[in-house]
Amino acid sequence: MSSAVSQRLAGKTILITGASSGIGRSTAFEFARTSPKDLKLVLTARRIDTLKEIAAEIVKEVGEGVKVLPVQLDVSNADEVRSFVGSLPAEFSEIDVLVNNAGLVKGVAQAPNIAEEDVSVMFATNVTGLINVTQAVLPSMLKRNNGEGAGDIINIGSIAGREPYVGGGIYCATKAAVRSFTTSLRKELIAKRIRVIGIDPGQVETEFSVVRFGGDKAKADAVYAGCDPLTPDDIAEAIVFAAGRRENVVIADTLIFPNHQASATILHRKST
Ligand SMILES: NC(=O)c1ccc[n+]([C@@H]2O[C@H](COP(=O)([O-])OP(=O)(O)OC[C@H]3O[C@@H](n4cnc5c(N)ncnc54)[C@H](OP(=O)(O)O)[C@@H]3O)[C@@H](O)[C@H]2O)c1
Repeated sequence: MSSAVSQRLAGKTILITGASSGIGRSTAFEFARTSPKDLKLVLTARRIDTLKEIAAEIVKEVGEGVKVLPVQLDVSNADEVRSFVGSLPAEFSEIDVLVNNAGLVKGVAQAPNIAEEDVSVMFATNVTGLINVTQAVLPSMLKRNNGEGAGDIINIGSIAGREPYVGGGIYCATKAAVRSFTTSLRKELIAKRIRVIGIDPGQVETEFSVVRFGGDKAKADAVYAGCDPLTPDDIAEAIVFAAGRRENVVIADTLIFPNHQASATILHRKST
């Protein structure tokens, strides 16, 4: 007997951006494990070789009931995003669930010393990329259900979008923009059966801090010293939970912390 969630997800096509690592990768596995008999996953990121490995791992674990399509996509490249949806093979072209997860942070510099390149890449990825992917997928969601629309748009924000912190001026601004866009979209789509879902993680240990510090693993590890951060699986479970609710239930806005965290900067660290 499959669970209600598994039944609700059966037959769906899920598109995940930033699926090569961390939360996106875990989300791909969690969807596949939850609905292993009949699911289609479109996994996108820049590292196509990693996506292909993940696709093979998923099929090896859950079997051929889950069809996985790895696609190289840089969400910050508007031309790539524009052509991406139209070039999906027919069986993957009707996206039911879009997980806008791709995102990154660069450095901890403060104004006036923030590198222009870092400002551009964070906005182009976290904000413009998310908006472009959403606009590329939305028309097909709107057409379904005799024009009433159908589908889920799940945007991964951050505690940083609710509470700006020192050294996060640009990253926090990008995540505040995601939060604002998510809320506008939910209001704009009020007459449609499209669910707009925002999920804001607190501290999660992924490649996120390694990317922030340009590959410096020691600096990344120091972020989590004395802490017990969330795992990407913890966030993946929340994403699949939201997508697996009854169609009339919208998990609109979710903030998720590990037990030792109460805000962006209030973290209890055990002395080591
Ligand atoms: N970790 C945390 O503490 C935390 C907290 C709150 C929110 N978040 C958010 O959670 C999301 C996932 O982050 P994570 O923690 O899982 O970090 P991660 O392990 O570094 O994963 C980030 C993913 O985004 C992809 N990505 C980055 N730039 C991209 C681009 N231009 N085009 C396409 N894909 C791109 C990366 O893939 P490629 O490099 O292969 O392109 C990777 O798959 C992000 O939006 C992040 O802001 C993270």
